[in-house]
Amino acid sequence: MRTNRFFTVLVLISMMSCEKNSTSKGISSPDGAIQVNFDLDDQGVPFYMVLKDGSIVIDRSYLGFEFKDVPMLKSGLKILKISTTSIDESWQMPWGEQLEVVNRYNELIIELQEETDLKRQFNIVFRVYDDGLGFRYEFPEQAGWTQAFIVEEQTQFNLTEDYKTFWIPGDWDIYEHLYNTTKLSEIDAISKRDHPNLAQTYIPNNAVNTPVTMVGENGIHLSFHEAALVDYSGMTLGIDGENLSMRSILVGSENQDFKVKRDLPFHTPWRSIQISNDAPGLIESNLIVNLNEPNKIGDVSWFKPMKYTGVWWEMHLNKSSWDYGMELVDGKWTDTGKAHGRHGATTENVKRFIDFSAANNIGGVLVEGWNTGWERWIGFPDREGVFDFITPYPDYDIEEVTRYAKEKGVEIIMHHETSAATETYTKQQDSAYALMQHYGMHAVKSGYVGKILPDGEYHHGQYMVNHYNHAIENAVKYQVAVNAHEPIKDTGLRRTYPNAISREGLRGQEFNAWASDGGNPPEHLPIVAFTRMLSGPIDFTPGIFNIKFDEYKENNQVNTTLAQQLALYVVIYSPVQMAADLVEHYEANPTALQFIKDVGVDWQQSKVLNGEVGDYVTIARQERETANWFLGSITDENPRELSIKLDFLDEGATYKALIYRDGDNAHWNNNPLDLMVEELNVDSNSEISLNLAAGGGCAISFIKE
Ligand code: NOJ
Ligand code: CA
Repeated sequence: MRTNRFFTVLVLISMMSCEKNSTSKGISSPDGAIQVNFDLDDQGVPFYMVLKDGSIVIDRSYLGFEFKDVPMLKSGLKILKISTTSIDESWQMPWGEQLEVVNRYNELIIELQEETDLKRQFNIVFRVYDDGLGFRYEFPEQAGWTQAFIVEEQTQFNLTEDYKTFWIPGDWDIYEHLYNTTKLSEIDAISKRDHPNLAQTYIPNNAVNTPVTMVGENGIHLSFHEAALVDYSGMTLGIDGENLSMRSILVGSENQDFKVKRDLPFHTPWRSIQISNDAPGLIESNLIVNLNEPNKIGDVSWFKPMKYTGVWWEMHLNKSSWDYGMELVDGKWTDTGKAHGRHGATTENVKRFIDFSAANNIGGVLVEGWNTGWERWIGFPDREGVFDFITPYPDYDIEEVTRYAKEKGVEIIMHHETSAATETYTKQQDSAYALMQHYGMHAVKSGYVGKILPDGEYHHGQYMVNHYNHAIENAVKYQVAVNAHEPIKDTGLRRTYPNAISREGLRGQEFNAWASDGGNPPEHLPIVAFTRMLSGPIDFTPGIFNIKFDEYKENNQVNTTLAQQLALYVVIYSPVQMAADLVEHYEANPTALQFIKDVGVDWQQSKVLNGEVGDYVTIARQERETANWFLGSITDENPRELSIKLDFLDEGATYKALIYRDGDNAHWNNNPLDLMVEELNVDSNSEISLNLAAGGGCAISFIKE
């Protein structure tokens, strides 16, 4: 049965909320395992510590702010008041990895004031959950201080062990880097500065981007990130390897000598630390979404989670092009008869995708390259005013395509490549969204390739955080859901704005089509599942069947087996999940296609059955609509055998398991297409063994009988 699928309702199971004054400067998680202690040192400098099961995980770490033209806010502080609150509630995801989310934490609020002349006040708030903690700074309204120009936030994270760390560099523009695995003390982001495949990249510090995940000798797993990034700059973490210490380094701008400007009152995003005794616990944690505010936009039933195909991979393979071959004549894009005939987004081609989607239980079709401007989009300094989000190319009949799609029960997904020309997009945004509404389109994929215009801004600074968030808020008016590429990182805002459906924000599948470094290696996704995926849904675009595609690109390929491409539909979560390959490649393999046809895209519950960061992971998810279960398991370059108990299946029920596994000779490079499909009858007492090839995977549909 479908339970309130499209409406977020705050269900208070047993809401205990009792605010208390306190003298204790510490607080524990509801289960008592995590403890946070706060205090001031003898100079009145605030610091905190975190313990897990009695051992120090974060040692004395100082907190403070550096402002423009006024003294730092860091020392000479006194505590005005301490209070605590406990919350135990649950809420529902309108779409997601699960329906019910438990939100249970203890909160400690410390109100501080400077003892000096300025007498500035601020609060530090800690929320401690069983799966980690978040803390943020609140600047209340106060006499004599109306505006803050933050030059740097000085939040420290002092660690007690030289953790094995999975990280990407603290790039201010793009997260599309391969993950590095090193000791914390050996992080060297500076040497990652020159990246041949990225249109924009700026790495000014030896810092990492978040989520950054760490594994300790005794099995403790930590992941550092932020939640509810609103009207602030993204946070990177500067590394002091010698002292096993990290500190916040906010993303800046070349146009001003501060990093964040805010009017009081305001609060910062949450600084979050997930803490788990094992790797699966990191994925099962809801810390990031829980730290966000409840749904502010109400009913989003107009957005339906869906699988989608698209006029997309063919451009990345260079089979067709985004552009049509128009010329700019007197400021107008004009068909001067120079069309090269390689344009992908033609009415006819899109209809082919619509037919294919309709026949295969796929709800959407993405159309890239439908609008004018693609002749002059990447790398040009004068990109403002080039793209037009209203005007189709002459061979794309938007009226007819949307009519045909509707007739077939398929939705067209809009595409807005802004080329990072933000002023043009902001100016056209309302009419572009209104056009979508007119044609019954409810999802847009947006893109921000290239250096941000205006010059001097970065993708992850406050200017762009506001741009991305504004696009999401504005889209609500037109019943539009947003899937951003080259985005700001996900910080769980989907809880507040459930029309923020998905995003890129990692090296996606596209790199396999053209990267000069050989694409994403087999270990990429077993790292992504425990790093990037902790922040939220990923538009990774799985499902490439023609793994080697030599007829298009001899020097590129996907570095997984076909079975792993299927497993990704379960492992990598997104409410919009692409079947990315060309129609003809799917039609050539109906056996494997059956899994994409069957697999769900919106989940009642998810269970992470096993995993180690960077090695392998197995996830089972139950579809909301049908209550069927699906399982995905993936491994890095090492083959492995994993034994799985099926005790997640409904007790007493029997299921037909369709197992799509690596064949006995499968290997991501030598034999990626070796796929075996087996059928078994199973129940909740069954145990099965998964044999994953090097770079391989396994996908299973459990259909209730
Ligand atoms: C980069 C995006 O990640 C990709 O999916 C898209 O096709 C191109 N930009 C063009 O917008
Ligand atoms: Ca991209």
